[in-house]
Amino acid sequence: MSKTVRLGVIGLGSVSEKYVPHIRILNMEGNNCEIIIASDLRPGHAERARGWGIPAFTTDYREVLNHPDVDVILILTGMQTHGKLTREALLTGKHVLVEKPMSMDLADAAELLALSKTSKGHFVCAPHVTLSETYQDMWRHIQSGDIGRPLTARGLYGWAGPDWDPFFYEPGGGPMYDLGVYNVTTLTGLLGPAKRVLAMTGIAIPERMVNNQKITVQTDDNFQLLLDFGNQCFAVVTTGFTMQRYDVSGIEIYGTEGTINMKGEDWDPYGYKLWRNKDGFWQDHEIRKKWRWTDGVRDLIQAIHEGRKPVNSPEHAYHVLEIMSKSMESGRLGQALPIVSTFTPPRFDKDSGRTAPHLDHAPE
Ligand SMILES: NC(=O)c1ccc[n+]([C@@H]2O[C@H](COP(=O)([O-])OP(=O)(O)OC[C@H]3O[C@@H](n4cnc5c(N)ncnc54)[C@H](O)[C@@H]3O)[C@@H](O)[C@H]2O)c1
Repeated sequence: MSKTVRLGVIGLGSVSEKYVPHIRILNMEGNNCEIIIASDLRPGHAERARGWGIPAFTTDYREVLNHPDVDVILILTGMQTHGKLTREALLTGKHVLVEKPMSMDLADAAELLALSKTSKGHFVCAPHVTLSETYQDMWRHIQSGDIGRPLTARGLYGWAGPDWDPFFYEPGGGPMYDLGVYNVTTLTGLLGPAKRVLAMTGIAIPERMVNNQKITVQTDDNFQLLLDFGNQCFAVVTTGFTMQRYDVSGIEIYGTEGTINMKGEDWDPYGYKLWRNKDGFWQDHEIRKKWRWTDGVRDLIQAIHEGRKPVNSPEHAYHVLEIMSKSMESGRLGQALPIVSTFTPPRFDKDSGRTAPHLDHAPE
């Protein structure tokens, strides 16, 4: 095993409650990694860092960037700050993982992408949905022709909406960047780059209660997105802070010979159902082992140890950002817009060699 991978975390808010324990588990599982410094603007979060056994805390994120022993910079701050922090992090030449999206601005993201090509370090952007076993099994079924040629697809992710931060209802917030991003990443991973987007978007609920105060909603909270993948393959993504509850598959792909449906949502899947015309019945594949949506950090740490690239490319994240950004524009203009960026989806030709489900007694 190569030397310990040392991480510095910027942002100790709610998402860090998932990443930090995951990194500790990764170390216990033999991945040789540790967090050596963390930063948050809130001085009170020093207590949180101490509780997690992180040896250094600072309110100045530049101390994380410039720390001579930090190999990986984790950016877990709110969305608005990602572009600036990611740029500064990439300029250090260290490995960088940023929560979604890499930037709120497409032109800025294009510069980040260019910068990442000249940086010595890897650049990983959430979401990490392509790393789940469910996604990878579905990818293999589609690639092997089990459902024939994919023609029609659907992604759905929504809920009633956050009530703790007005940012979600300001320009740059909204459900497309917060929720739809998962579906768009999954569908483009499974079906390849999209060629066109057409969206209907709007503000369905103009006033909301946030932190017990009435606010005016300033960005779209309701989206229906149509994606054209070429070759007469179309998908719809439904997202909004407009859904109280639902009980349907998060991802559905329909082909000429069958159908594959994810069980659960793509950020938290637990298997899939496969219909093949030649079988004439549904196969129900249960994946009980819990998948963590923070898994990109595992892949990044292992990529560093193994001297390989991470599975997910920043080009994929940029493509997803272009789709999201143009969906807002399409909603305003009422017309379809071309998607010009492209990427090569990750391949998962070999299965993960996981324990047979009937022998997986303690899947957590
Ligand atoms: N909350 C979720 O369930 C969830 C899930 C998946 C992804 N995400 C993404 O993760 C990111 C973070 O979300 P969150 O819910 O943890 O937000 P949060 O507001 O709870 O935490 C962000 C933290 O970053 C700190 N911060 C901001 N600027 C900083 C700076 N310059 N230096 C140091 N610290 C700084 C803030 O003080 C805050 O503590 C967002 O991009 C979000 O889209 C959130």
